[in-house]
Amino acid sequence: CGIVGYIGPRAAQQVVLDGLRRLEYRGYDSAGIAVVADGALTVRKRAGKLANLEKVLDESPLPDAHIGIGHTRWATHGQPNDVNAHPHTGATRRIALVHNGIIENFADLRLRIEADNHELTSETDTEIVAHLLELQVRSGIDLTTAMQRVCQQLEGAFTLVAIDNADPETVVAARRNSPLVVGLGDGENFLGSDVAAFIEFTREALELGQDQIVVMTREAVQVTDFAGSPVEARRFHVDWDLSAAEKDGYDWFMRKEIFEQPHAVADSLLGRRDAEGRLQLDEMRLADEELRDIDKIIIIACGTSFYAGMVAKYAIEHWTRTPVEVELASEFRYRDPIIDSTTLVVAISQSGETADTLQAIMHARAQRAKVLAICNTNGASIPRESDAVIYTHAGPEIGVASTKGLLTQLVACYLLALYIAQVKGTRYGDEIEDIMAQLEAMPDHIRTVLDGAEQVYELARAHVGTRSVLFLGRHAGYPVALEGALKLKELAYIHAEGFAAGELKHGPIALIEDGLPVLCVVPPRGRDHLHEKMLSGIQEVRARGARTICLAEAGDTSIEPYADHLIRLPKVPVLLQPLVACVPLQLFACELATAMGHDVDQPRNLAKSVTVE
Ligand code: G6P
Repeated sequence: CGIVGYIGPRAAQQVVLDGLRRLEYRGYDSAGIAVVADGALTVRKRAGKLANLEKVLDESPLPDAHIGIGHTRWATHGQPNDVNAHPHTGATRRIALVHNGIIENFADLRLRIEADNHELTSETDTEIVAHLLELQVRSGIDLTTAMQRVCQQLEGAFTLVAIDNADPETVVAARRNSPLVVGLGDGENFLGSDVAAFIEFTREALELGQDQIVVMTREAVQVTDFAGSPVEARRFHVDWDLSAAEKDGYDWFMRKEIFEQPHAVADSLLGRRDAEGRLQLDEMRLADEELRDIDKIIIIACGTSFYAGMVAKYAIEHWTRTPVEVELASEFRYRDPIIDSTTLVVAISQSGETADTLQAIMHARAQRAKVLAICNTNGASIPRESDAVIYTHAGPEIGVASTKGLLTQLVACYLLALYIAQVKGTRYGDEIEDIMAQLEAMPDHIRTVLDGAEQVYELARAHVGTRSVLFLGRHAGYPVALEGALKLKELAYIHAEGFAAGELKHGPIALIEDGLPVLCVVPPRGRDHLHEKMLSGIQEVRARGARTICLAEAGDTSIEPYADHLIRLPKVPVLLQPLVACVPLQLFACELATAMGHDVDQPRNLAKSVTVE
């Protein structure tokens, strides 16, 4: 969900709506806004995308107000209808509250509220909290104290932002395991799930810690713990501006972000070597001795980030000889993993807020493992809760389907692998110079792939009406195949599956039928016969009627007889090939979904950052 709060001289409706528009990628099942003007609270909310709410506001605008909160929802408790949309109010409609997260003890709290003869109108856990807050303020205490008391009763994950019609000069917010940042203005202040909410107005921000409350007036921002004791909050400057959060003439954020990849990859490589050419990862806070003692690495992540982790396994094991496991974050802590202080857990998350990944980190740290985060969002929960972090420098990623987020995560993974090789003194520690030169050539290679976009678009448009697509890959091309399939599912709602090409003959080959499109990520030609094995797999599916679309490196003529369509990739080492091979698959899914009339930036049922488990 996306959350916005504002207090200051501007028109609250406009500021909150602008913020919601920039946060809509976080959830778009329903949206709502509340303001206080002349001692009265007004709430408007609607199911569906923000546009539905905007229409209502056009027809009946809110009163002129200077304090407001807003919410754009990704439904958890209760259907995405008007009633369940946020903000929620208490029994006498004095408090308005927006919430992100899940209150785990909501059933107990609900009984308490109902025992008090309060009638709940929605199915949400949030409304219960609004009632609890209102009970408190009606007993004569202020909203800040009420928030402290209520938070102490809550279990689960939450960001809460509330206003009280009896105090139109204060916004009160709280957070536990769910994102919230403060934007610091001049005579005005802002709250947002992330800085995109207020980047138009200020680039100065405050990062909030766990279990903290923020009390915001026009002139001041005060941060305390749940008991009311003041705490220090870290101030930071946002180094990207509004244009990074706009479409710049592209039809979709996703397409813009695909084309930003050469730049994003170059930025993520920048400044990683010292004068002697040795790698330095200064955002990392693990000492070399600690890294040297690491005897096992477990990578945890979700969705597209998980596929970055799969590629990382190939690179880390090959370059450092350290065993690596890759695990879906949502499964990790439930299988009682074997970890201790010599285990390095690498958590990969573009947003830095994915609840499954965050909870896995907490579990790993409780077992004394070291945790290193690879993250694209400064001040997010995951880097805060980790021992060390490598930030990717992709800039804000707004399209729900990750693109430049993934490519920059791959870069960070390669850098981490090389750094460990350097620290442990493995053979590849001496080849860092060469490998870095290859990495530094990648932005140009990605540009070459993007120059061929039109060919991929044509192919994509020819697939409107296709019901199923298979993706095959081997080695580092296997996660690429999985990612290609995920993109097609997410954006075009087409059944798509990725398989390891060698596994094909053990089952999936039964799916092949006449005309089925099979996208094959062909490994570069090399010493290990991977390429030849892949060719055999392609021949096997083709013999059974599949139509093959092959991604193969420039100059590879051996593939020509077996490819119904051929997309050329620049010649790069096998381990780095995902950096170029993912790109046509992103273009393919984006264009096919566009041709099918889908909303590429906001695919159905998904959200950019899933802050619930
Ligand atoms: C959501 C998004 C995916 C993303 C995944 C992990 O499910 O829809 O695109 O890959 O979360 O996100 P993260 O921010 O942790 O990388």
